[in-house]
Amino acid sequence: MHDALLPLLACPACGSRLALRRPRRAGGHVMSGRLACAGCGGVYAVEAGVPRLNVAMETLRDVAGSFSYEWRAQAEGAFEPDRVFGRTQDQHWLDFLRFMGLKKSDVQGAAVLDAGCGPAALTSAIGAAGAAIVVGIDMSDAVDAAFARCRDLDNVDIVQGNILSPPLRPAGFDYVWSMGVIHHTPDPRAALARLAGLVKPGGTLFVWVYSTRPNPFRLGKAIFARLGLDRLPAPALHAAAKALAWASLAGLESYRRLRPAAGRVGALKPRTAGELELTWFDALAPLHASQHGEAEVRGWFDGAGFVDVVAYEDPNVAVRGRAPRARSAVPGLLSK
Ligand SMILES: C[S@@+](CC[C@H](N)C(=O)[O-])C[C@H]1O[C@@H](n2cnc3c(N)ncnc32)[C@H](O)[C@@H]1O
Ligand SMILES: [Zn+2]
Repeated sequence: MHDALLPLLACPACGSRLALRRPRRAGGHVMSGRLACAGCGGVYAVEAGVPRLNVAMETLRDVAGSFSYEWRAQAEGAFEPDRVFGRTQDQHWLDFLRFMGLKKSDVQGAAVLDAGCGPAALTSAIGAAGAAIVVGIDMSDAVDAAFARCRDLDNVDIVQGNILSPPLRPAGFDYVWSMGVIHHTPDPRAALARLAGLVKPGGTLFVWVYSTRPNPFRLGKAIFARLGLDRLPAPALHAAAKALAWASLAGLESYRRLRPAAGRVGALKPRTAGELELTWFDALAPLHASQHGEAEVRGWFDGAGFVDVVAYEDPNVAVRGRAPRARSAVPGLLSK
């Protein structure tokens, strides 16, 4: 972590400010030290350049474990090392601009949170585009790969933390982005409310969640769950994901030959074995993987007091909203 991150951090247990003790610095980062809370007395570690601020993990250990496996495997060369879910870093960046309704110049000088950043492909792109500060937060061991990817960017920090108990000061970010994350919590509505509280007045929040539309990956998860197979250890699920990837690739190819227009069908979009292997593992392994309708997600934004809510045409549910300028109009904004 850089020293500039400290004012944005808060104790994940009580919301008070944290003080940095016994820092050891290298290459512009605080590589190790302690973060002490003056409010509740909690003490958290900074290890390998990353503040370790996970709390309230009882219901999340299983999900954190499967994502830790997923991103460690990717860092070791599994799936597609240069892409995440079949998308290059440039494609993640262009998706970010489109879904947030921004131009590159809007991002320059802004404070941005990538909530559930995984290996930080997007986080690093936002940093490289010139944001004032970008924070990537994830509860899993993805933070180690994320830190390695971002360590040379002076404006990017990676935090290990749980978005249901975010270790961040309220209303600290112009833009909060959360792609494919909150449906992996036991309470996505509460997760959205927590993220809403991190947005500055007038700032933007975007979330992308699994939709209730039929989709081969959700169907696969439902079948695995029914048979109790989704609780197999991660390496066994990885082997299953590999087999399913090759089977679906073969199925896709035959379908394409028979129906040339099939490439336009959203659920059939993934194209390489590595992409399908990651998507299958990601669909099968997390214990929590709920599905939601657009109206439901819009309701979460309304409930958080957000305005100008926009939903996108996407096979899944992609919605953004704006925090009202009058802070008091946002229920719970300062309640953390
Ligand atoms: C499917 S991945 C998406 C990664 C990235 N946003 C992307 O679009 O490629 C979901 C990520 O969210 C993280 N995550 C899930 N629940 C979380 C929570 N409660 N707090 C922090 N991170 C969480 C997981 O560890 C995982 O890395
Ligand atoms: Zn505290």
